[in-house]
Parts: sequence; structure tokens; C-alpha cells
Amino acid sequence: MGSKVGEFRKKLKIVDVKGGPNEGLDRVGLMIVVAGWVRTLRAQSSVTFIEVNDGSCLSNMQCVMTSDAEGYDQVKSGLITTGASIWIQGNVVPSQGSKQKVELKVNKIVLVGKSDPSYPIQKKRVSREFLRTKAHLRPRTNTFGAVARVRNALAYATHKFFQENGFIWISSPIITASDCEGAGEQFCVTTLIPSSREAAESPVDAIPKTKDGLIDWSQDFFEKPAFLTVSGQLNAETYATALSNVYTFGPTFRAENSNTSRHLAEFWMIEPELAFADLKDDMACATAYLQYVVRYILDNCKEDMDFFNTWIEKGIIDRLSTVAERDFVQLSYTDAIELLIKAKKKFEFLVKWGCDLQSEHERYLTEEAFGGCPVIVSDYPKEIKAFYMRQNDDGRTVAAMDMLVPRIGELIGGSQREERLEYLEGRLDELKLNRDSYWWYLDLRHYGSVPHAGFGLGFERLVQFATGVENIRDAIPFPRTPGSVEF
Ligand code: 4AD
Ligand code: MG
Repeated sequence: MGSKVGEFRKKLKIVDVKGGPNEGLDRVGLMIVVAGWVRTLRAQSSVTFIEVNDGSCLSNMQCVMTSDAEGYDQVKSGLITTGASIWIQGNVVPSQGSKQKVELKVNKIVLVGKSDPSYPIQKKRVSREFLRTKAHLRPRTNTFGAVARVRNALAYATHKFFQENGFIWISSPIITASDCEGAGEQFCVTTLIPSSREAAESPVDAIPKTKDGLIDWSQDFFEKPAFLTVSGQLNAETYATALSNVYTFGPTFRAENSNTSRHLAEFWMIEPELAFADLKDDMACATAYLQYVVRYILDNCKEDMDFFNTWIEKGIIDRLSTVAERDFVQLSYTDAIELLIKAKKKFEFLVKWGCDLQSEHERYLTEEAFGGCPVIVSDYPKEIKAFYMRQNDDGRTVAAMDMLVPRIGELIGGSQREERLEYLEGRLDELKLNRDSYWWYLDLRHYGSVPHAGFGLGFERLVQFATGVENIRDAIPFPRTPGSVEF
């Protein structure tokens, strides 16, 4: 047993063979094993070509087989078809074809798991809508394989950026009793309703009630209402006011009934929090972060990015290269409103000072007014922003910032936090939020309060931005949206 430990690392993946600068030519003559799934099989009179993919990269391994290969009978009898899993041993040889530099001359083939002829992802191109109904098989397509790899690279680059810059990663809780954004868009976590097996047949009367006919939360698991978190920010603030710079990276949940191409009920958020920092520091951090991760995938995911550039969004590589290099535009909400009012464009939603920016406004600013450059809008009216944002001296606005990018609109939302106890309490009262339930958050302002700031970036929106996929449902393996929780 002991000697086998660690051996998994010795197994070559297709990327190890073909991923180098000379696309495998340095491996010519080597006997290797490839294990993966059949993408296509073409039988000609004397040779059979099998394209195998193991997900390690976009490229398949072209395997060329003649009738003397061991296991050829399984090919001849038609047992090996698209979708089947196979194990192939062969020699790396220079390829005759123009699509690849090397291919595999097969010595031995083993069918690991056959694929029924009903396999839904045959060679013909299938729509992304159709593939959403096959979310368990779609990672075997070029597009979803590439999205998964780039998503992974973005996650890795995220940790790399923050770790290299002295931030500590914090696990913020998923179950919480507080509503960070105060928008009441939370999913309840309860055991008052029985667990899944009995849920379908559970009588309403089984829910315990108080004398007044209200739900009796004291009998619930946490003895009070609990919810899935909408943001890890409040918890991140507690650690930032101890460890200085921290970040969270985890799932968040919103029960907002928005059926759009940019909203999910379950999405991942990255939330850095910086102590002894103001709004300018926050914007600088957000800019440096976005430029870093974009540069990272351009440098490290070339094959997948070329694929997106050809098949998903023409010009995405140029678009991202510009983002990685250019200074971002910065303007105040007030200036943004003025610009929108003067715009020659007809918007569906009327623009006036005090209104929340709609996606159409956000996209106009970044796509048209500033020609595709990310735009950071700051100092929004306090009425349209959350209770925790620091009030500006004008009494009307708060030190908030949103970063808007082409195709998406809002990618990042952040702010300087209200570190002054009396202002924060005043704001809670104004918004009729219960001070008692924020007691620990208020404590941070009692004991060694510091100016601090942070932001939240929606990870799936970043994946959309970086891959060009139009719908956020294609940027996460298993999307959760209103009416959809399959898989
Ligand atoms: O602007 P939001 O609501 O800000 C917060 O939650 C703050 N507590 C963040 C902070 O300052 N630490 O959300 C932040 C980002 C948005 O800019 C957007 O990218 C993403 O989260 N987001 C969503 N992504 C997918 N589906 C949804 N329903 C989203 N709601 C927000
Ligand atoms: Mg926001």
C-alpha cells in the first residue's frame, strides 16, 4: 500500500503530453497511457481514429489504431462509442494531420465503461440552453470544460493575489442570524419543517405556534430564526479589526426572484476587508485585484482563452488585455447621473438623482460612455445603499463604490464602513433595524474602532466577464435559480 501513495502524480494527463511549448514533440518515442472519454471515433478501412479527452486541457489526444492493436475487437464490434471511457497505451509519434503535432499510435485499448447510444452529447453542436438540462454531462463539452478550467484558474489567482499581498483568508459562516444587506432576501434555515424525506407529506399544523398564532422560533434548532448568509462582510469586519487585512471566498445566497442573465440564488463571493483604509484604498485594491486575475488567465490559460476568442466572444483577448493595462475610470454618482441624463440614449428606467442605477445605465456608462473601460462609480445617495456604509460630510451620500464592467454591469460592490458608533446607531434606527441584533457588530465600534473598507465581487460574474459566456447559469457548475434546483 505504502509504495502506491503518491503514485497518482506519476500518471500523465493529456496536458502533460501536449501542453508544453512544442505541443508534445519532446515526448515523441515515449510509451504512455491515456485514460479519458471518447469524443469521436472514425473507422476507415485500415485505421481507426479515436479522439480522447481527459479534461486536463481543451485538446484531445488523437489515437490511431490498426487491427494489430490489443483490444481492437472491441472497436471492430462497435462497443467503443462516443461518451465511453477508455484506457489506451501507445507510443507518442509525430502526427500526419495538421490539427496537432503529435498523436498516439495505439498498442492496447481497454474499454472501461461503455456508453449507451442515447448519450446526449454527440458531435453535432448543441445549444447551451439544452446543455443546462444536462448539467451532469455538460463538463464533457469543450465550452464547459474550458469554463471549468478558467474558473479554477481565477479561484487560484484570487488566493494568490491576496496571499501575496498579506491578506488572511477567513471562513465566514454560511448560517447566520443577521441580514448583512438588510434587503430581506434570505433563505430560512429551519428544522421546524421536517427534513427532506418527510417534507412532501408534512402537515402545516406540525409547525409549532405561540399563543398569538406566530411561529414559535424558540422550538427551532437555533432557538431563533436563522438564514443562509447573503454576504460574509460583517464577520470579515470582525477579523479585519484584529488581523488588519482579510478576505473571504465562499458561497452566498439570495432569495431574490430575478430571472436575469446575471443573478443566481447561490453564488460565490470574494470579500476583502482592509483595516486602516478608506474608500480610495478600497478602489485601488479592487483595481489591482481585477487586473491581476485577468492577467493571470491570459498568461496561464492560453488554449482555453483562444477557444473563447474564436467560439464564444470574438475579441475577448483584446478586451481583457486592455482591462489588465488601462487605468479605470472613476466618477461620482452625481456625475454619472448627469452623464446619463445628457446621454442621447432612451432608457427603459428614468434617470434622476436618487435613483438606483439599473443594469442598462451601468452598461451604458462602461460600454458606451467610456468605450469598454471599467468604471468605478462612488458616493451614492445613502437611501439606496446598506446601513453599514460610511456617511459623507454632505449628509446625503455615503462612501460607496461599484465597479462596472462591459457586458455585466456591476461586478463589484464595496464601501468604506461606518466606524463611528453614534452614526452607525443613528443609521440603524433610521432604517428601523434592531440595534440589539447587531450588538457584536456595534462592539467593534466600542473597542478600538478603525477606519476600514472592503468590497464584494460576485465570482460567477467574474467568470462571465473572463470567458465571455453570456448567461451566469453557464459560469457555475450547477446553477440555482428560481424554480431550478435539479442536479
Ligand atoms: O453589491 P452586493 O450586494 O454587496 C455586498 O454584499 C457587500 N456586503 C459586499 C462587501 O462590501 N463586502 O454584492 C456584491 C457583488 C455584486 O457586485 C455582484 O457582483 C455579486 O456580488 N452579486 C451577485 N452575483 C450573482 N447573483 C446574484 N444574485 C448577486 N447579487 C450580488
Ligand atoms: Mg451592489
